[in-house]
Amino acid sequence: MLFRYLAARWRHPGAPTKRYIQAGLGLESRARALSVFWTDHLSRTRAAQTRWAQQSQGKVLTVLGAGPLLDLNTPALAPKFQSFRLVDANPLLIDDWSRLNIPVEPIITDITNCMAPWCEAVKSFRGGWEQMLNLIRDLGNVPIPAYSATTHGLISLNILSQLEIGWQEALEPLLRKKFGTRFVLQHEQDWLNAVRPGARMLIEQHLEALQASRARDILLICDVDYVEYKGRHYARHQWAEPPLTWTQDGWLAAEGITYEVDSALEGVVLNTQTFSRLLPNYILDWHETWLWHIAPNGTEGTDHGKLHRVAAFAFRYFESAAA
Ligand SMILES: C[S@@+](CC[C@H](N)C(=O)[O-])C[C@H]1O[C@@H](n2cnc3c(N)ncnc32)[C@H](O)[C@@H]1O
Repeated sequence: MLFRYLAARWRHPGAPTKRYIQAGLGLESRARALSVFWTDHLSRTRAAQTRWAQQSQGKVLTVLGAGPLLDLNTPALAPKFQSFRLVDANPLLIDDWSRLNIPVEPIITDITNCMAPWCEAVKSFRGGWEQMLNLIRDLGNVPIPAYSATTHGLISLNILSQLEIGWQEALEPLLRKKFGTRFVLQHEQDWLNAVRPGARMLIEQHLEALQASRARDILLICDVDYVEYKGRHYARHQWAEPPLTWTQDGWLAAEGITYEVDSALEGVVLNTQTFSRLLPNYILDWHETWLWHIAPNGTEGTDHGKLHRVAAFAFRYFESAAA
């Protein structure tokens, strides 16, 4: 693991790269450690791709957030496309991708196109704390188009909710460097609030980039809710039911469970109004939702457990609206 990390850092120096490589290695090691609990989510993610692949085909399949391919259903997708264009910010993945039995075009890039200019603006800013918060808010109010490429099929694979986290993780060390670690910790809520317009913009520009791709078929898979709960413990290697279930009418908790739910998408609700505003040339063909017990209480050293609600949305290009 250390050797892979050092080799990748040597080939791809730079602060943003370091963050994505570390996060990628963290993701792989959590997936191994919690495989008993993650299997269900990974199977549901792959099953959604099997369903989507029944009606999709073409020359190029683009996958945004391909990552270490934990959740890409290559056997279902490869017979339907001539090549994969795999996109991610983590350069370490090129080795994983080169092992696929299908032609791969690797694209290592920040799909938001925002991180470099936003970080540069923060680094070169010479004001006090309040002015800095204004700057952070203002950055998010100026739309920047995200990475987009024309393609036949397009999958956004569990990356949408990561975009806001990426912005927070890029920003925090810059603020600490300017204002000191203790000050930034004490004012955590202030800067997290200031990040919100940017986070919302990142979500909207991602949906607009899906629209700009003009892909015939799009599959968007993303977290929609984050849940933290207390009241039950789990052992790392022994599967047991999650303590909550989700239905159209809301959350149902087992006895003794307390929990809090947060939107994963900065209040952007993935419903027909949002889709007709940001993806006007697409109709929603079908959607599914399931739970990912990402950090069962007792397995990751916190006093609570974490669940994500994940959703898959399959869109089809709407010819008559495409004038
Ligand atoms: C939750 S992971 C999903 C990975 C993959 N689908 C899997 O499970 O194997 C999110 C992926 O998005 C990538 N990512 C996050 N922010 C990105 C950005 N701004 N541009 C490009 N890739 C990004 C990460 O490097 C990571 O591989």
